Amino acid sequence: MCLHHSCGADPAIGRATTGSERRLNSIRNQIAQRVREATRRIGAEGDPLVRPAQDEKFGDYQSNCAMGLAKRLGKKPRDVATAIVDALEIEDMCEKPDIAGPGFINFKLKPEYLAGCLESIPAPSEAGGDRLGISPAANPQVIVLDISSPNLAKEMHVGHLRSTVIGDCLARVLEFEGHTVHRENHVGDWGTQFGMLVAHLRRVDPDVVRHPEELVISDLESFYVDAKSRFDTDDEFKTESRETVVALQQGDETTRRIWRAFCDESLRHCHAIYDRLDVKLVDRGESFYADRMEDVIRRLESMTTAGDKGLVRISDGALCVFMEGFKTREGDPLPMIVRKSDGGYNYATSDLATILHRVEELGASRILYVVGIGQKQHFDMLFAAVRALGWAKDDASLLHIGFGNMLAASGKPFKTREGGTVKLKDLLDEAVQRAREVVSPPDDDQPGERDRQFDKAQVAQIAETVGLAAMKYFDLSHSLSSDYKFDLGTMLSLEGNTAPYMLYAYARIRSIGRKAGVEFDDLPRSEEILLEHPAEIALAKRLLQFAEVLDDLSRELRPNVMTDYLYSLAKAFSRFYDKKLGVRVIDASPEDVRLSRLHLCELTARTLKLGLSLLGIKTLEEM
Ligand code: ARG
Repeated sequence: MCLHHSCGADPAIGRATTGSERRLNSIRNQIAQRVREATRRIGAEGDPLVRPAQDEKFGDYQSNCAMGLAKRLGKKPRDVATAIVDALEIEDMCEKPDIAGPGFINFKLKPEYLAGCLESIPAPSEAGGDRLGISPAANPQVIVLDISSPNLAKEMHVGHLRSTVIGDCLARVLEFEGHTVHRENHVGDWGTQFGMLVAHLRRVDPDVVRHPEELVISDLESFYVDAKSRFDTDDEFKTESRETVVALQQGDETTRRIWRAFCDESLRHCHAIYDRLDVKLVDRGESFYADRMEDVIRRLESMTTAGDKGLVRISDGALCVFMEGFKTREGDPLPMIVRKSDGGYNYATSDLATILHRVEELGASRILYVVGIGQKQHFDMLFAAVRALGWAKDDASLLHIGFGNMLAASGKPFKTREGGTVKLKDLLDEAVQRAREVVSPPDDDQPGERDRQFDKAQVAQIAETVGLAAMKYFDLSHSLSSDYKFDLGTMLSLEGNTAPYMLYAYARIRSIGRKAGVEFDDLPRSEEILLEHPAEIALAKRLLQFAEVLDDLSRELRPNVMTDYLYSLAKAFSRFYDKKLGVRVIDASPEDVRLSRLHLCELTARTLKLGLSLLGIKTLEEM
């Protein structure tokens, strides 16, 4: 759609040319373009419906457009397909297309064409090399991503992993496309709980006002538990907590300072995790919108109508927005409450204020909320209200990217043995610990089995990378909406669609370069890529799918599109390099064949690295 491979194979001679006028689309889009032109030539018009072929036996891509066109033209689908094929100008890319079944048109790419596309991918040191020649989106947008967003009253727990990891991946993809992305950490830092926490903090650390920056709470979870038990058992403390909320909301300076100290300390805990996960976020919590909520109320009040028909009205003392299509179980209208009957604001009020800020101040044309599927109804109502109120332009897109839960290996919700919530930090530590067992060789490791031995610090570094990569990759490789079971054994396995498998694949290719005595970054570019063996051709096709995968990923916003692709690429490589099924590489001859194959290795390594980086995963040169 908007990603272009700057794949400049010259149609006439099948070799690469340079220059920006040679920018072409992903292969799928190019075929679609040719089909569109052919249908026009036969006097029809319609979506070319080009998809990757289901079965490689039939070719690489398939167009299913003949059936629909036939209906409209009142002709037989096979006749329409034949007419399209006759009108197609595609010899530079494909063999003559076949027609199958009722009228499917199958395309098989020519090896010379594939080679030309691969040759035109810029070298690592050339302009665009870091993007494999893929150009940014033609129409960059301002996009807000609402990511992670834990409640600061407590420690981040396992439930926050998915939003953080999925959100970061989507942000990376959209940034890569050239959009301006605001990575908003909409933390919960406002509301009644904070009265209790501030009151508790004042008691346990009376000095906090004078030295707010020195505050250290090593265990936020037990701090919360202590505050809550005091609140539940001590009436005087309860009253004090309520007064503290009021003082906080009215802007009392001392109260605000203590509250700020608490939030900053809690955010330090969060950022220790974000740093480890290499996730960048801008903290803009609910409190940021406190004043803006007044504005929401003012705007709504000016729209309030009496009676029981209007969009905005008072119902049972509460200020409500009534949107079409929302009903209670009893069939009564279900409103979104924006100011409770006691005058208090709620989650919806703050989210309305947040949208106004994002649309009016940040200039967002897309807002994506990466939040658990449990909040679906909240977002459905919020978006419906914003539309009904006319607070977002019609072409602005608001989307809730909901995801399922991460469950314990037993399939039950994640809990500690005592039934408490599991801290995210503990889970990360456990993954890294287990990764260390996987990556550090047993003492009797045969000398010569590995490229080299690592010292303790290197093993620790590798374990950290592999452990965190394993958690991210496992999470991202599951379909968004389903629950999945956290399973360290599977996620750390060296076989299958896992991070260790992908990282090994990458490190292995890099070591092929070292063993062949070449610098991948400086491979001579004048050499041709020669594609003869089926394993070479299959690898070339996979490599060239990357642009298309990015297209799909940025449109569908499903990270497993990328993990599935990378896995298929790694498998295609392993076949290519296989002693029996593939080709010789390091000791291949003659030299032009050897260089061509090393070039394929280099492109595979670079594609894996770029793909993994879009998932937020760092590669290792050696493992
Ligand atoms: N803090 C919320 C929670 O823990 C998530 C916030 C999501 N973002 C939003 N704009 N509502 O459930």
